[in-house]
Formats: sequence, structure tokens, C-alpha cells
Amino acid sequence: MTTDAEIQTALPALASGNVAVITGAASGIGLAAAKRLAAMGMNIVLVDIGGARLDEARRAVAAIAGDSAVLAVATDVSKADELDRLAERTFGAFGDVSLLMNNAGVGNNPGKPWENRDAWKRLLDINFWGVVHGVEAFAPRMLAAGKPGLIVNTGSKQGITTPPGNLAYNVSKAGVKTYTEGLAHALRNEPGASVAAHLLIPGFTFTGLTEGATEKPAGAWTGEQVIDFMLASLLRGDFYILCPDNEATRSMDEKRMGWAIGDLIENRPALSRWHPDYKDAFAAFMTRTA
Ligand SMILES: NC(=O)c1ccc[n+]([C@@H]2O[C@H](COP(=O)([O-])OP(=O)(O)OC[C@H]3O[C@@H](n4cnc5c(N)ncnc54)[C@H](O)[C@@H]3O)[C@@H](O)[C@H]2O)c1
Repeated sequence: MTTDAEIQTALPALASGNVAVITGAASGIGLAAAKRLAAMGMNIVLVDIGGARLDEARRAVAAIAGDSAVLAVATDVSKADELDRLAERTFGAFGDVSLLMNNAGVGNNPGKPWENRDAWKRLLDINFWGVVHGVEAFAPRMLAAGKPGLIVNTGSKQGITTPPGNLAYNVSKAGVKTYTEGLAHALRNEPGASVAAHLLIPGFTFTGLTEGATEKPAGAWTGEQVIDFMLASLLRGDFYILCPDNEATRSMDEKRMGWAIGDLIENRPALSRWHPDYKDAFAAFMTRTA
């Protein structure tokens, strides 16, 4: 088991006294990150839509880090000007930011691909543009500071294997994946910069987004498990933080991703994993070794 001291020695961006900005921090994975990083001595900026949940999260994180180490800022990440104001407040209060977690997200947008345009746009504004707005607001000053920094954007396996049923969400998370890959490339080509980008890909995680469940389904991880895994992955320098859960192992995810890109390479129909003609071939592929 890696200790926090080992993590903080290897990753100076996470040093005690540094500042982490976390969107979607009033619940789930974001709140778990806030609590864990607060326990490591970081100052925490909690970002979420305002209301009682954000107040409650502020109290919970302040109980760990102390009042002066926590700032809670009601912000709608879909609005670029709100992110800019957040950055002003954050740099005004703490002077520096070394970890940005663009993690806020919303889930289901049922309906056919040609339905619900307003809901589609709203979902993309939060899940995709919210990430871009966060990077725009914070990355220039993180780079200008010339210090080690990390930007972690939360994607999803649904943005990689794109299962049917939630197309707007899949599109938003595919966008986050592509954007974050491009961001990582751009950051490593910035002369003298030591800010790196990473893509957090949670598995099935029991959070506010896990609809319908009142207690953790056996197959799900907790937000705390995701954050432990994220820290271990950052320590290894992994760009893709591909979390397993209690149902999906890494090996299963590798096969599912391999099959998905195989649609293109093998010239199969789109989403053939869910096509009746490919049911047996996919099942056989999943059981194949090596
Ligand atoms: N739970 C899972 O199984 C799972 C799997 C893969 C990816 N994810 C991703 O993880 C991230 C965190 O989600 P979670 O599972 O912790 O869910 P959650 O609902 O517990 O947390 C998401 C938070 O984002 C906030 N939010 C929503 N819209 C916002 C906006 N416009 N501005 C600011 N904040 C906003 C919500 O208020 C909420 O507190 C999301 O990006 C989600 O897509 C979750």
C-alpha cells in the first residue's frame, strides 16, 4: 500500500499546502477526491451548482482540512464566464492552483438520436464544454506559474465503447477523451512546462449518478476506491486512469475496447457488440485468452 507521503514526494503537485480545484465536488467521485486531498493537507476549492449539498460538502471537507483551507464556489460549469469568475476567486484566495479536476457531469438523456435537442445541448454544455471551460480558465495561469501541475478530466468507458442507450452522454465523454488526449499532447510540448493532463475513466461507481440504487450495488466501486486508484495511477504516470469495478476487470475492459475499435478495422457494422449477428462472435472474443 502506497502512503500519502510517497505519493506527495513523487507528485509535487499534490503537496500539502497546494491547491486543488474540483468540479462536481458536492457529491460522488468529486466529493471523495475533495475529502482525500484535504486529508493530504491540500487546500480545496469545491465547485458545484449551489445549494444545500455544496454547503454540506463544504462543512464535511472543512472538518478535515480546517475552515481556511476550503472555498466552496457555486458555479455552473456550462457557463464559461462562471469558470472565469471561479478562477479569479481561487487565485485571489490562494494565489496558486496545482490540481484541476474537471469532474462535474450529468447522466441520462433518453430518447432517439434525433430527439431532445435542448437536452442534448445542455448535456454537452456540462459534460464536454464544462471541461473545456475549466481548462481555459485555469491552464494559462497554471502554466505561467511554472510549477508542477495536474489536470484530471473525468471521462467514461461509455465514451470509448459507446454502448447504445445514452448517446448524448457517450458523445460528451468521447469528446472529453479526445480533448484530453490533445490537451496532454499540447501540454507536453509547451516549452518548460510541467503541467500534465490525465483522463480519469471510472468504472461503475456508486454515486449520485447511479440511478435508482439506495445502497451500493455489489458490482459498483465507491467514489473513495476510484480516488485511491486515481492516486496510484498518477503515481505510475498513467495518462489513462482506467478503473475496474467489482464486475469489470481490466482484462474485460481491454477486450471490450479491442472489440469496439475492431468494428472499424474488421469492417463490421457499427456497435456490432450489440448486433444479434455478432452475439456469438463477441462472446467467443471475450473468452479468448491472449
Ligand atoms: N458513477 C459512475 O458510475 C460514473 C462512471 C463513469 C464516469 N462517471 C463520471 O464521473 C463524474 C462524477 O460523477 P459522479 O458519478 O460522482 O456523480 P454525482 O452525481 O455524484 O456527481 C456529479 C456532480 O456534478 C455536479 N454538476 C452537475 N451539473 C453541474 C454543472 N452544470 N456545474 C457544476 N456542477 C455540476 C452535480 O451537482 C454533482 O454534485 C461525472 O463526470 C460522471 O460522468 C461516473
